[in-house]
Amino acid sequence: MARKRGRMTRTGWFVLVLSIHWILLLQCCCVASWMYLGVASLAGSVHDDTCSEVPGLVREQLEVCKDNPESLLCISEGARRGILECQSQFRFERWNCSTEKNYTVFGPLLRKGTKETAFVYAVLSAGVVHSVTQACSVGNLTDCSCDMSRYGEADVEGWKWGGCSDNVNYGLWFSETFVDAPESATQTGRNIRSLMNLHNNAVGRKTVEKLMSRQCRCHGVSGSCAVKTCWRGLPAFKDIGQYLKNCYERSVRLAGRSKRRLRRKEKARRREPITNEELVHLSRSPNYCRNNPKRGILGTTGRRCNRTANGAESCDLLCCGRGYNTQVVRHVERCRCKFHWCCYVECKTCETLVDIHTCK
Ligand SMILES: *[C@@H]1O[C@H](CO)[C@@H](O)[C@H](O)[C@H]1NC(C)=O
Ligand SMILES: *[C@@H]1O[C@H](CO)[C@@H](O)[C@H](O)[C@H]1NC(C)=O
Ligand SMILES: *[C@@H]1O[C@H](CO)[C@@H](O)[C@H](O)[C@H]1NC(C)=O
Ligand SMILES: *[C@@H]1O[C@H](CO)[C@@H](O)[C@H](O)[C@H]1NC(C)=O
Repeated sequence: MARKRGRMTRTGWFVLVLSIHWILLLQCCCVASWMYLGVASLAGSVHDDTCSEVPGLVREQLEVCKDNPESLLCISEGARRGILECQSQFRFERWNCSTEKNYTVFGPLLRKGTKETAFVYAVLSAGVVHSVTQACSVGNLTDCSCDMSRYGEADVEGWKWGGCSDNVNYGLWFSETFVDAPESATQTGRNIRSLMNLHNNAVGRKTVEKLMSRQCRCHGVSGSCAVKTCWRGLPAFKDIGQYLKNCYERSVRLAGRSKRRLRRKEKARRREPITNEELVHLSRSPNYCRNNPKRGILGTTGRRCNRTANGAESCDLLCCGRGYNTQVVRHVERCRCKFHWCCYVECKTCETLVDIHTCK
């Protein structure tokens, strides 16, 4: 009798622990936690075992990490690139893409399917394609290498395919396998939010592919370009960021009802299919003006603004009409430098007063 009661209690404990585990998982899953690898990379703390410390990675992602430590570095680097590009693209906006140093990464912000969420998913997914593809080209990964399929072929215009073409197909496949894994039907059941994430991930990947371009090098006597070899190369990551930022401006609001496919909310355009050049979102963005920690909004108080500009960085827009403080800062620099024969440089020091404006 006593033994039986003991077993029951153990089962009870097991169920309790399991349900706590589930509650924790439900709270922090849903927001792609692999993005934390980018924050860890920014902090310089990615190591062999990082994946096992990140909560909320799904089985497929853990397997990739375990089987293939080199690819873990690529994923972290890709996420890092995505985060930095996001911060650069949004440096003048009310929401500036700032991150937290814990597993929430963007705070509670990504829980809502806004345009900003759409951009984050797309740019990080593109980041993984970009870094994995580069790693293939330099021979850092064992499963891929350069794309040599056209090597030696001559083009009608008189140049030759040579060198190492970036093998974007492997990067695309890898990013899809890893980045999309948490959204797959078996993980979450089909819901409109995971369809939104999947679509935006795909837009990010497609952008890398679309912006690939032919890059050439001239050979021949003193750069005469008698022989020209070309290869297909990756775009600079900031070009991808800029392209996706434009997609963000035109992001399509979705009708939230359907669980099976994406449909525009705008009635007049319902029948137009959504293309893979359009980011999609479900909810309207908050205005990001005022600090609201619960929703992960920092507010714009203290942000530096530009009094003479007209765009998003203008004090009018960035400070949301609250006005700004002006601070005069003395700026000292070396100036009017002269080169004296031979050999030293003499400079004067110049002082300028600079007005710095920050939002109230
Ligand atoms: C974003 O703005 C906040 C102030 O609102 C600032 O503390 C933070 O450093 C900024 N983040 C980035 C990445 O520029
Ligand atoms: C994450 O860190 C931020 C500060 O960087 C803090 O405000 C927030 O509560 C933390 N979230 C969790 C879940 O620890
Ligand atoms: C290749 O691997 C080395 C060593 O791990 C690393 O320093 C370098 O950044 C990697 N290069 C690319 C393009 O992934
Ligand atoms: C402010 O904006 C003006 C006009 O766009 C620009 O010329 C100027 O360099 C900007 N100032 C700063 C400090 O960024």
